[in-house]
Amino acid sequence: MKVLQIDSSPLGEASASRQLTAAITDGLRKTKANVSVAHRDLSITTPAHLSGEILAAFGGADTSGNAELQKQLALGEELLTEFLDADVVVIGAPMYNFSIPSQLKAWIDRIARAGRTFRYTEKGPVGLVTGKRVIIASSRGSIFAGDTPHEDGWRHAMDFQEDYLKRVLGFLGLTDVEIVRAEGLGLSPAAREESIAKARRQIEQRFEAVAA
Ligand SMILES: Cc1cc2nc3c(=O)[nH]c(=O)nc-3n(C[C@H](O)[C@H](O)[C@H](O)COP(=O)(O)O)c2cc1C
Repeated sequence: MKVLQIDSSPLGEASASRQLTAAITDGLRKTKANVSVAHRDLSITTPAHLSGEILAAFGGADTSGNAELQKQLALGEELLTEFLDADVVVIGAPMYNFSIPSQLKAWIDRIARAGRTFRYTEKGPVGLVTGKRVIIASSRGSIFAGDTPHEDGWRHAMDFQEDYLKRVLGFLGLTDVEIVRAEGLGLSPAAREESIAKARRQIEQRFEAVAA
C-alpha cells in the first residue's frame, strides 16, 4: 500500500496537524505489512501560484528557454504523479482565515487538471481519480464542528476548510474522505493539549481496530 503524506503547516514541530498526519501514517503502517510512505512537505516545496506562463504551458505553449517555468512544470508533474500513485493520501490541513493555507491551495491548483484528474462532458464535469482513500488531519484554533448541522450556524457557514477539501477532492472523484480533527486549539493551552490528545486517541483506536 502506497501512502502519500502531505503536510502544509509551516510550523514544524509546533504544528498540530503535523502531529496528526504523522500519527495517521504510523497507524496505516500498522494495518498492513507492505506500506511505503512518500512525504511531501509543502512548506519546503511550495509550488508557485499559477501564472499566465504556467497556464499557457498547460495549454501546450512553448516553454523552451524558460528554465524557471520548466522547473515549476516539472514540480507540478511530480506532485501529480505522486498523488496518482498513492493508494492513501493523508493531508495535513490547518484552517487559515476560514480556509486552507495557500501552500495547500497551491498543491490543489497543480493536481486539479482538466484532462488529467477531471474532464468536462456534455453532462458536466467528471472526476477521473478513483479508488483512493483520503484522510485529512484538520486543525483549527476555534470550534466549528457541532453535533447538529444547525448548531452555531454561523460557525458552520464559515468553514471553508474541511468542506472545501471534501468538495474539491470529490470533484476529482475522491469520495472516500475521512476527517480527523483537533479544534479549539487557540482557546487555551489546556484546550489545545486536550484536543490534540483526543484526536491522537481517535487515530490510535481507529487503526488498532483495523489491525486487530
Ligand atoms: C495565519 C493563520 C490564520 C488562521 N486562521 C484561523 C481561522 O480562520 N479560524 C480558526 O479557527 N483558526 C485559525 N487559525 C489557527 C490555526 O488553525 C491553528 O493554530 C492550527 O493549529 C494551525 O495548524 P498547525 O498547528 O498544524 O499549524 C489561524 C492560524 C494562522 C497562523
